Amino acid sequence: MADAPPADAKRDIAAEAVIERYGELSGDKDAFEVSLTTPLPICLWANRLRIDADDLANRLKSEGFMPDPVAWNEGAFRLPATDRPGRNWLYKAGLCHIQEEAALLPVMLLEPQPGERILDLCAAPGNKTAQIAIALDNQGTVIANDSHAGRLAPLHAAIARLGLVNITTTAMDGIEFPLDIGPFDRVLADVPCSGEGTIRKGPRMHQPVPDNFRDWLRGTQRSLLRRAINLCRPGGRIVYSTCTFSPEENEAIIDAILSESSDIRLLPAAEEIPGASPGITEWQGKRFSKDLTKTLRVWPHKSGTGGFFAAIIEKIGGSESSPTPITEMDPAAQAVLDGFIEHFGLPQNTFDGLRTIRAGRRLKLTSDHHDIPDLSERQATGLTLTNDTAKVPKLSTEVAMAYGGLATRNVVDVDDDTRAAFMTQQTLTLSANQTANCSDKGYVIVRSEGIPLGVGMLRRDGIEAMLESQFPKNWA
Ligand SMILES: C[S@@+](CC[C@H](N)C(=O)[O-])C[C@H]1O[C@@H](n2cnc3c(N)ncnc32)[C@H](O)[C@@H]1O
Repeated sequence: MADAPPADAKRDIAAEAVIERYGELSGDKDAFEVSLTTPLPICLWANRLRIDADDLANRLKSEGFMPDPVAWNEGAFRLPATDRPGRNWLYKAGLCHIQEEAALLPVMLLEPQPGERILDLCAAPGNKTAQIAIALDNQGTVIANDSHAGRLAPLHAAIARLGLVNITTTAMDGIEFPLDIGPFDRVLADVPCSGEGTIRKGPRMHQPVPDNFRDWLRGTQRSLLRRAINLCRPGGRIVYSTCTFSPEENEAIIDAILSESSDIRLLPAAEEIPGASPGITEWQGKRFSKDLTKTLRVWPHKSGTGGFFAAIIEKIGGSESSPTPITEMDPAAQAVLDGFIEHFGLPQNTFDGLRTIRAGRRLKLTSDHHDIPDLSERQATGLTLTNDTAKVPKLSTEVAMAYGGLATRNVVDVDDDTRAAFMTQQTLTLSANQTANCSDKGYVIVRSEGIPLGVGMLRRDGIEAMLESQFPKNWA
């Protein structure tokens, strides 16, 4: 029996099929072919809730990286494909996030505005949700839905690491997302697709796309887009996007939806993106509306990125959405927040604009105007503030990272050498200098170069001060 082909060979078969199908459409078959077999650069962006882009770039350089700014997206940087920034402490401390460069595009086109209510209909693994939450200045409401609950786990991890308080996740079929939970100001439909534009990501699962699979995808894509439009308020915006070259999953879907409804129109998705081209109006003998040139294609050989497609749809009409009213804080939760303010010497206004909700044994922290949908499919909302009802509540790592930069008491600074030990759950011996602003014992916020890393427990053994790391094992 013949051996199974190595993973690389599978990718080659997939790449060959893509080159064959789209070589001519790409405008330069040879360059297209070279680009598909060149590893994809890493792209990361600054979490501007914590750090500005220049500061991040300088810190990355001091860690040995060579960040190259992405001209069309402020705060994003390219790194060589072989770099591993996800293993660096700056990433673990939530100062940046890794996302494919072309995938930054749909949220730029969505243009989320602070105070809005936004639905991400097919959200997992959640990179675009994180972009939306930050574009809203960590306020208002982002509902991140995906039909596969398990695929939301990376989003829950990103929410905690990046400190995002304005997201609720739900797990249900987007085609049936309840209309009465809307309307939303903007809806992102980043739909499941054949993924042909991601071949450069490496030797993984790529196989040539069978026609019957593409047909099945098209039905799902069309139904998801229809639902996204129905869930958007008049005057609001829908962005439809895929990471595939396939016109059947791109222009043809938009063309069909345009012919179904007079309540929508395409807006020009013209962006100053190197390598961006207008959508096409003809494919394999089928003609699409001339309007399809308002959509956007990103070709790897022109942009140096993966492949992408995006369309901006405006729902015609105009009505303002009303902000969600502020909910009163429950007094027990207020007492917990006041306790943290007192213990860590945080400014009195640290938690202004936020409220707490109870989720089982956890107290969660979310933005004041965050509108939590009443759905049994709800998975999680906001950040975990504290995990239990202990007499002395323990501040969570995620809230310590998000707000611990403001602490003035019970703070321990660790240097380069001891930082790694703290982040791998080791116990440290502290100098008198390091514990100068600490109580005799108890919880402390641990920082390095002014950046909060999490929480430790200060203990005394005779005259020796010991720091027990509480850094979560699965974050290391
Ligand atoms: C292209 S991925 C989304 C990527 C994501 N927006 C991001 O930027 O990280 C498509 C997602 O759609 C989800 N999906 C597939 N069918 C769906 C459906 N009927 N309703 C909602 N989500 C669906 C898949 O589980 C997958 O996570």
